[in-house]
Amino acid sequence: MNKRLLKKAKEIGEVLSKSKFVRCVSHNDADGLSAASIGCNSLIRENIPFHLSILENLNPDSVNEIIEEVNQRKNNAPENSSKGCADEETVVFFDMGSGQPSIIKKLEKTTVIIDHHPPLYKDEVADYHLNPHHFGVDGSSEISASGMSYIVAREMSRDNIDLAGQAIAGAIGDMQHRPFKGLNLEILNEGREKGYIEAKKGLKFYGTLKESLFESTEPYIKKISGNKIGVEKILDKISLNGESKYWELGEEKKRRLTNIIVLLLVEQGSDFNAISEIVGDICLLDKEVVSTASHLASLINACGKSKEYGLALSILLRKNRYLEDAEELQKDFKGSILKELKNLEEKIVDRKNIKYFVADNSSVKGSVAGISTSYLWPDKPMLGLVKKNNHINISARGNDSLIQRGLDLSSAMSESADKVGGRGGGHDIASGARIPSHALYEFIKAIDAKVGDQLGEEN
Ligand code: C5P
Repeated sequence: MNKRLLKKAKEIGEVLSKSKFVRCVSHNDADGLSAASIGCNSLIRENIPFHLSILENLNPDSVNEIIEEVNQRKNNAPENSSKGCADEETVVFFDMGSGQPSIIKKLEKTTVIIDHHPPLYKDEVADYHLNPHHFGVDGSSEISASGMSYIVAREMSRDNIDLAGQAIAGAIGDMQHRPFKGLNLEILNEGREKGYIEAKKGLKFYGTLKESLFESTEPYIKKISGNKIGVEKILDKISLNGESKYWELGEEKKRRLTNIIVLLLVEQGSDFNAISEIVGDICLLDKEVVSTASHLASLINACGKSKEYGLALSILLRKNRYLEDAEELQKDFKGSILKELKNLEEKIVDRKNIKYFVADNSSVKGSVAGISTSYLWPDKPMLGLVKKNNHINISARGNDSLIQRGLDLSSAMSESADKVGGRGGGHDIASGARIPSHALYEFIKAIDAKVGDQLGEEN
């Protein structure tokens, strides 16, 4: 692994190990939740008390209460006291913080940032700042926040290597598995060497064929996903039993299933890269409550988007008794995605360089945008919008082919949002923004032009 990055991770591991109390803040997506879980699991193992808050994003409204709480504890600490949680507290931000110096500066405690978003600054804001971009590592495709958190955890103790599966689940949540490369691949290989992960090539199906095809959103197969009759017809056509599980099938049957899915995706005009990735690295996990990393990522994502953060953390803390609840929630979540996708075509507004829709359900707007640009209309990035009070939340998603042509949704969203008095950011392929409601037209005009510039289109 990158030596300088490891040195910084070790330094941060030491700070955490010496803390009497750690105030953790993380992001509500699969990567943020996995990053927090890896951090909290390693604190539990060192008997260090902590308090974790999960936020949708880091903005002054959401974090002010935490800043006040932390600073108040400092001010109430007995003078000159060197012991006790009050004066030896560390605040850690996972999967956020690298882009928000003004917020981090307000904290009067030792502050650590473990993030992978493109940073807006290097030093002198947080006391300890771990971000792959500072070490020449691409945080959009080669390592996620959960991977960075894992690197710190393994510096705290090699016993934490059993958390590698969670780092991989977080990377999948942030779409860094197509294929795994760089530090993600190193983590995957470390997990494999220690026997915590087994990597195989295959479809990302984990239930019976009937269930897996019906619920399939990645890939989203128009004639099958959410369509019972469609599922039966296809299974009949390729003579497969819907009650069998993918991993129990012989090679020839697996091939038959893959072939028909590929044919259907080609027919519906899916992105070529997305089609070629349907057979990917399936990471079988030895230590977690479910058997594959994509299943874990999908459960955690559904919990996070449904604001069931406690449930997500219970799953990541390996509490088997919560699995049924999480599975139920995931079923509902997938149901909402499928419902939104069914009516999507009529709702889409097609601009020159982008497409957008107003979502019925805020929690699935990003997933639906991602699915549609990968499997339905790959020629342009897709934006999902939801109006909330006097502002609009937006999720934007691209696909690998658009990225290869120069798309960077992170800069497009942040610059367009800035222009209209909003805020945005994220990654080249998946980004988000919040803008004032009245500025929608201006924002759409700005991002349409910006994406056009990136893709080399004339506006
Ligand atoms: O909310 P969503 O899943 O669409 O977010 C995608 C990415 O955009 C995440 O990395 C998130 O941190 C970022 N984002 C942001 N500002 C927002 C909303 C999302 O930087 N207002």
